Amino acid sequence: MLKTAIIVSVIGIGLYYFFIPFATGSCEYYGKERLDGKTVIVTGANTGIGKTAAADLAQRGARVICACRSMERCNAAVADIKRETNNVQVVAAKLDLGSMKSIREFAQMFKNTEKRLDILINNAGIGCRNVDKKTEDGFEDRMGVNHLGHFLLTNLLLDMLKQSQPSRIVCLTSLIHWTTTDLDFDNLANHTSTSSCDNYSRSKIANILFVLELSKRLKGTGVTANAVHPGLVQTETLRSARESEGFLATSYTKFMEVVFLLVGNDARRGAQTTVYAAVDPSLENVSGQFLARCKIDTPSPYARDEAVAKKLYDMSLKLVNL
Ligand SMILES: NC(=O)c1ccc[n+]([C@@H]2O[C@H](COP(=O)([O-])OP(=O)(O)OC[C@H]3O[C@@H](n4cnc5c(N)ncnc54)[C@H](OP(=O)(O)O)[C@@H]3O)[C@@H](O)[C@H]2O)c1
Ligand SMILES: *[C@@H]1O[C@H](CO)[C@@H](O)[C@H](O)[C@H]1NC(C)=O
Ligand SMILES: *[C@@H]1O[C@H](CO)[C@@H](O)[C@H](O)[C@H]1NC(C)=O
Ligand SMILES: *[C@@H]1O[C@H](CO)[C@@H](O)[C@H](O)[C@H]1NC(C)=O
Repeated sequence: MLKTAIIVSVIGIGLYYFFIPFATGSCEYYGKERLDGKTVIVTGANTGIGKTAAADLAQRGARVICACRSMERCNAAVADIKRETNNVQVVAAKLDLGSMKSIREFAQMFKNTEKRLDILINNAGIGCRNVDKKTEDGFEDRMGVNHLGHFLLTNLLLDMLKQSQPSRIVCLTSLIHWTTTDLDFDNLANHTSTSSCDNYSRSKIANILFVLELSKRLKGTGVTANAVHPGLVQTETLRSARESEGFLATSYTKFMEVVFLLVGNDARRGAQTTVYAAVDPSLENVSGQFLARCKIDTPSPYARDEAVAKKLYDMSLKLVNL
């Protein structure tokens, strides 16, 4: 009886303190680097990982531009971050990544009003959903917002990042990218699937392939680009999944809600690898890498395919009219 109780306790403690943190990508970044005099952009900074990452960087003294699609949500988040960090250099700005017009307006406004750009955090994202939605420009919205929107934004801000070097680009991706083993280029614009996470996964592997090709193009410029898997983080990310239709997808969302509730990291912990990517001195010359659990990790073989990365980059240039 006692023996059984001890075995069950040891397994329980092991699961709770070791296996679950490992499986959910949990980590803590302890670096104390300051960012006084530096300027940062965080997309989707009004909630979730973006908001806690923006607060962490503001705490380090950075000027933080919170770029969001809803100014109402943005202003509320900026007020929270200012109160929390006593940093008055936190500003809200309008950016809808589902609109190339909005992205161009944001980049222009930024260049007109800011002197430098040291860190660009491409964080905003739309998650799993089995119902098709389009951006203003007619792109499927996960590929359109998560990849193409950030692709255009980054390209428009590249000259400013180069002028401010050493500087960094951080793109949020996900472990789910392992499920995409073929981007189906012939059908990049009319790929069909009934699986709710398929298009999300495709956009997230595009994020990794983007930094892979971008890092090559940025060699010698002092600008690095890396992709971050934040872990399993309890945020508003299941909003899109709740819009899914059908018994299977609805059940899957309910199941994921329980999983997130039980083992998800909180948003502060979910921002640790993003902060590590943005500030850690050991990453000064690291570029084109996949980071997870506050260290350099290995993404799927398809995410490391340089020919695929180049093809996606060239196709993306055309799609966003660059
Ligand atoms: N949570 C996880 O477990 C997890 C795991 C792996 C990867 N990630 C990645 O981490 C990143 C942050 O996710 P999260 O969990 O913090 O999600 P979240 O709580 O849902 O926040 C997503 C953010 O993106 C913004 N956004 C969505 N569409 C936008 C658009 N068209 N233009 C501008 N902003 C837009 C949202 O703004 P609104 O509030 O206005 O909608 C919100 O601020 C995403 O890239 C996600 O793929 C998350
Ligand atoms: C996935 O994206 C394609 C475009 O690439 C679109 O035609 C399809 O409807 C999307 N599927 C879902 C479930 O959203
Ligand atoms: C869309 O998909 C079909 C079937 O896979 C393919 O034959 C067609 O060429 C595609 N159209 C475009 C515009 O990519
Ligand atoms: C990065 O590269 C520069 C120039 O080669 C070098 O001086 C510096 O020590 C490197 N930093 C790290 C952390 O390796």
